[in-house]
Amino acid sequence: MVITIAGGGSTFTAGIVKSIALRREELEVDEIRLFDINKERQDKVAVVVDWVLHKELNTDIKLVVTTDVQQAYTDASFVFAQMRVGGYAMREQDEKIPLRHGCVGQETCGCGGMAYGMRTIFPMIKLIDDVEKYAKKDYWILNYSNPAAILADMWHKRFPELKSLFICDMPIVIELLVAATLGYRHADLAFDYVGLNHFGWWRHIWNPQGEDLLPKLRDHLLSERPLTLFQDEHVNADWIPTFERLRKSMRLFPEFLANTYLQYYYFGEEMVAHEDPHYSRANRVIDTREKSVFDECRRCIAIGSAADSFLCAGVHGDFIVDHARAILTNRPFRTTVNVPNRGLVPGLPADAIVEVHGQVTAHGVEAFGVGELPHFQRALMVQQNAYEQLTVEAALEGSYTKALQALTLNRTVPSADVAKRLLDDLLAANRDYWPVLK
Ligand code: NAD
Ligand code: G6P
Ligand code: MN
Repeated sequence: MVITIAGGGSTFTAGIVKSIALRREELEVDEIRLFDINKERQDKVAVVVDWVLHKELNTDIKLVVTTDVQQAYTDASFVFAQMRVGGYAMREQDEKIPLRHGCVGQETCGCGGMAYGMRTIFPMIKLIDDVEKYAKKDYWILNYSNPAAILADMWHKRFPELKSLFICDMPIVIELLVAATLGYRHADLAFDYVGLNHFGWWRHIWNPQGEDLLPKLRDHLLSERPLTLFQDEHVNADWIPTFERLRKSMRLFPEFLANTYLQYYYFGEEMVAHEDPHYSRANRVIDTREKSVFDECRRCIAIGSAADSFLCAGVHGDFIVDHARAILTNRPFRTTVNVPNRGLVPGLPADAIVEVHGQVTAHGVEAFGVGELPHFQRALMVQQNAYEQLTVEAALEGSYTKALQALTLNRTVPSADVAKRLLDDLLAANRDYWPVLK
C-alpha cells in the first residue's frame, strides 16, 4: 500500500508522516513517497521524515523521495495533496496587493484566494492527470491544498467521477476548541455545521444527553470567559485574535457559531487595519513556522537525530489519516467535507461545493442534508459561491470578464472600479502562473 504526499516539501509533511506511521497497522501502509517540484526543499524535510519512520518509530515503511511523477504515483493507492503553487513568495503578493487597495489580504479569502486559485487550478489538473496515468485503478486523492473551495469546484466540474475528498482542518480545530472549552471530549459531541469552505456556521452542538450546547457556548463567549486553545501553533499573535473575534461574531449574529474565516467577510475594515501591508501573514509564517521547520531539519541533520523533535503528529496529520482509514477499512468516520450540493442546502445551485457534515466509508462520502437556512447565511453563501464558480470559469475559459465579475462579487471588494485595478495588479504579479485572460 503506497501513500504519496504531493507537496512533500511542505511544512506539514513531517507531522502527516508521523500520523501515518503511528497508525501504520490500521492503514497497512508499506511505502510512503514524497513528491515535490522543489528538490532542495523536499530533501531537507525528507531527512526528518526518514528519521521519524526508521529510527524514532522503528517502522519498516519504505520511503521514496522523488521529483519524478512516474516514480511518485506508480501503483499509489492514496495521494495526499498539499501543494502551494508559487510558494510563500506569491502568498505575500496575494496578501499585499489587496492590502495596497484597502482590501482584505488573505491566502484563501477575498482577492488573495482568487489569485491563489487562478495559480493552482492548472497545476492541480496536471497532478490529477499524472495520478490517473500511473496510480492504482481505484486510487483516492485526499486534498488539503488551498484554496480548497475553488479547487474542489474545478475538480467536480472537470473530473466528476474522480475519487477525491476535499478536507480542511479548520472545522475540526474549532470543534476541538469548543469541546475543550465546554469541558467535553470531542467524540462525545455531535456537531451540525453548514457552509462553504472557510465560510460556514455551527447551528447546534449536542451533548450525549441530546442537550444543545450552543446557548452555553454563546454565554461563554459573550461573558468573556477564556477559550481553551489546545494546539501550540494556535497560541500566537495571529491566531489568538482570530479565535477571540468569535466573540464579536457571536455578539452581532448570536444565532450560530461562525467559522473563524468569516472574520474577513464580516469585519473587512478591521482586518485591513490590523495588517501591516509591508509584513503580512506570509512573512510571519516564513519567520515562524517555515523557519522553525527548516531550522529543525538542519538541527536533525547536524546531530543525526530527531529524537526530541517537535515535528510531531497533531490534529492536521491525524485528520487526513482518519479519512484514509475510513476508506480502507469501511469503518465510518464522521467529518466535514466539501461536496457538490445536489439539494443538501436548499436555495443554492446543485453544483455549488458546500462544506457539511458527512460520513466517509469505503464507498466515499455520504453527506447529510441541512434543510432550509435563514436568509442571511443563504444569501452570503449564494454570493460567495457565485464568486468561486466565476473564478473557476474565468481560469478554464481564459475570461477576463468573468475574472472581473468574480472579484466584483466578492464581499471584500467594494466596487467594480476597485475590482478592475486589483485584477490588473494581480494579473501582472501572476503573469508566470495564471492562464491568459482575454
Ligand atoms: P509549503 O510551501 O511549505 O509547502 C508546499 C509545497 O508544495 C512546497 O514544498 C512546494 O515546492 C510544493 N509545490 C508547489 N507546487 C507544486 C506542484 N505543482 N506539485 C507538487 N508540489 C508543489 O506550504 P504549507 O504552508 O506547508 O501548505 C501546503 C498547502 O496545504 C497549502 O496549499 C496550504 O494552504 C494547505 N493547507 C491546508 C490546510 C487545510 O486545512 N485545508 C491546512 C494547512 C495547510
Ligand atoms: C487552517 C486553515 C488552512 C490554512 C492553515 C494554515 O488550518 O484551515 O486552510 O492553510 O490554517 O494557515 P497559515 O496562515 O498558518 O499558513
Ligand atoms: Mn482550510
